[in-house]
Amino acid sequence: MVDFAEKFRSMSKLKWKVLDAIFKNMWDYKYVPAEVIAKTAQINPEKMETILKALKDENLVENKYTEYLGSAFTYLGLSLYSLWRLVRSDKVSMLGKRMGEGKESIIFNCYSEKYGECVLKFHKVGYSSFKKVKEKRDYGTLHFTVLMVRSAKNEFKALKRLYGYVSVPKPYDWEGNAVLMELIDAKELFRVRLENPKDVLEMIIEDVKTMYSLGVIHGDLSQYNILVNPEGVWYIDFPQHIDLNEVETDEERKVADEILKRDVENVINYFKRTYRIEKDINSVLKYIKGE
Ligand SMILES: Nc1ncnc2c1ncn2[C@@H]1O[C@H](COP(=O)(O)OP(=O)(O)OP(=O)(O)O)[C@@H](O)[C@H]1O
Ligand SMILES: [Mg+2]
Repeated sequence: MVDFAEKFRSMSKLKWKVLDAIFKNMWDYKYVPAEVIAKTAQINPEKMETILKALKDENLVENKYTEYLGSAFTYLGLSLYSLWRLVRSDKVSMLGKRMGEGKESIIFNCYSEKYGECVLKFHKVGYSSFKKVKEKRDYGTLHFTVLMVRSAKNEFKALKRLYGYVSVPKPYDWEGNAVLMELIDAKELFRVRLENPKDVLEMIIEDVKTMYSLGVIHGDLSQYNILVNPEGVWYIDFPQHIDLNEVETDEERKVADEILKRDVENVINYFKRTYRIEKDINSVLKYIKGE
């Protein structure tokens, strides 16, 4: 396990400059040519190879030698760089303890002078876009870390759209693959024994309906991404959400319908299994869609 904070402190100005240059060019090259990095960072091209080698030894970049030397971020490199951007713009003042590490993200507690205590989520996974890729180049020529940035952007976008209408963490900022958001003092649904499961299920259905009316389908709704505390129910983890404003064709409509159904099924089945509450999926789906 890498100590993020330690690694962050040990970086030199020159190395940040190089990572910054990779970030600026990552949408155009799968492996950014050393020459392009040198030009963007205004560093002597002869020095570049040495710096890139050092960054590789620290597991911050991945270097590839073809006709030329090219470089791309590792997950760690992109995450540290994203943190640097947040620190530099005074959004994050102190990194706290690691709250969780899964296959899809690493989550930190952090402190911000601007926002107080918050959560910093570094995205590890890239979701294939529901719509056709809109980037200049297609997936085959994009590095996977570009997709992590897209995931973070998607999550931030969904939180922005929903905040104030349904209970989601307040989105503060997004940089690279990192999303900075409000810390919710609540537990995952699967960890608690509810006293009023019927009311909670009704609240969730009502919230899914509100999200739908705002053009958002969660896409990974389950007892793991719903948090509860005595004040209510909260929803997290939106990188794979579907934006209904982007649904155009019949095929896309069908996919969106299936994903909504899966979300609702997850919740209904959980309440059935755990609390013996029966609900008819089809009438719930009709209610959500306002049919
Ligand atoms: N804003 C938040 N406030 C409080 N806890 C949070 C917040 N965001 C995430 N968490 C905690 O971190 C866990 C993982 O977060 P999230 O579901 O967003 O990521 P994930 O992509 O599912 O990651 P993983 O692969 O670890 O499951 C959550 O289950 C929750 O316990
Ligand atoms: Mg999750």
